[in-house]
Amino acid sequence: MSEAPKKYEGPERVFSGVQPSGSMHLGNYLGALKKFANLQHEHECIYCIVDLHAVTVWQDPKVLPIQTREIASAYLASGVDPKKAIIYPQSKVAAHTELAWYFNCVARVGWLARMTQFKDKSGKNAEAMSVGLYDYPVLQAADILAFKATHVPVGEDQKQHLELSRDIAQKFNNDFNASGFFPLPEPLIKGPGARIMSLRDGTKKMSKSDPSDNSRINLTDDADLIAKKIRKAKTDAGVVPASEKELEGRPEVKNLVGIYGALSDSSEQQVLDQFSGQGFGVFKPALAELAVEKLRPITASMNEYLDNPNEVDKILSKGAEDASAIATPILSEVRKIMGFWGA
Ligand code: TYM
Repeated sequence: MSEAPKKYEGPERVFSGVQPSGSMHLGNYLGALKKFANLQHEHECIYCIVDLHAVTVWQDPKVLPIQTREIASAYLASGVDPKKAIIYPQSKVAAHTELAWYFNCVARVGWLARMTQFKDKSGKNAEAMSVGLYDYPVLQAADILAFKATHVPVGEDQKQHLELSRDIAQKFNNDFNASGFFPLPEPLIKGPGARIMSLRDGTKKMSKSDPSDNSRINLTDDADLIAKKIRKAKTDAGVVPASEKELEGRPEVKNLVGIYGALSDSSEQQVLDQFSGQGFGVFKPALAELAVEKLRPITASMNEYLDNPNEVDKILSKGAEDASAIATPILSEVRKIMGFWGA
């Protein structure tokens, strides 16, 4: 009789990352950053700036380090405390790329072929994309598992990548008779900010790469610009309805109600109870006021960090050392398990 697979018995650990490729927006904040800060109080947390992922599409070498500091500043401004959580750039920790190679030999081509994000990003142009962009989710699995992370706070768009990370962990454990070695990381997605949509089209997610700046609220936007973007946000001729059911078929309205809920830590229904029957001439200014109130301190703090790049750099260097100290012994174990000479 075959033995039951061993369960992972290591400590709980949180890992997540954001790409330094364009401005941070409200979706990144509500889907990821807000959770990062909350989790650090009760968990060991590692937050990476995934510059190796960013270069899967061309990045200007002069701008990349600036954007890396910008994401670090956004983490810090959102309340991530470098005394509690590790913050570092991915390219400073060699374990990511090494483990990604091993995982390239574990993951199957067919698994990657199913990834919808690659299809969305490449469109009809897949042949012209970098190999790195195709392989992107394997590097993501390596990010998480180089630390044996058990929990990954992300927005809903990362769900499929997290499923792939679990499949890779499971197959590695099976292939090398190492049951229980890697945890099967769990995504932490739930919450009202998990899927923030474009302000111009409620069927498209809010995204850094949308050519229309009016489609998103950037964390660097000032109060006037935030108010203007919300005023211009697409809605319809109706009023705010009374029930969640009535939001069906009104994606733009649902999105604005969702944003209000996520910013005020209330449910969709609570927001509807507060505004039902009101026109958007009332709801939009209330939402703009709330967004400005919540984002202004973050923007101000982010700007302070951006004015002090040396302080941010110190945090990143120390973070890279701390992250390496965790990942290096895990990679040694991986080499042993795989049977490399000298391991
Ligand atoms: P990235 O840089 O595209 O986005 C960073 C985080 O923001 C979330 N997010 C959203 N959440 C809600 N609504 C939106 N409109 C929205 N847009 C983005 C994303 O879900 C993400 O949590 N592949 C990842 C980066 C990554 C990573 C990792 C994440 C690389 N390695 C390991 C977790 C663990 C990405 O491209 O995120």
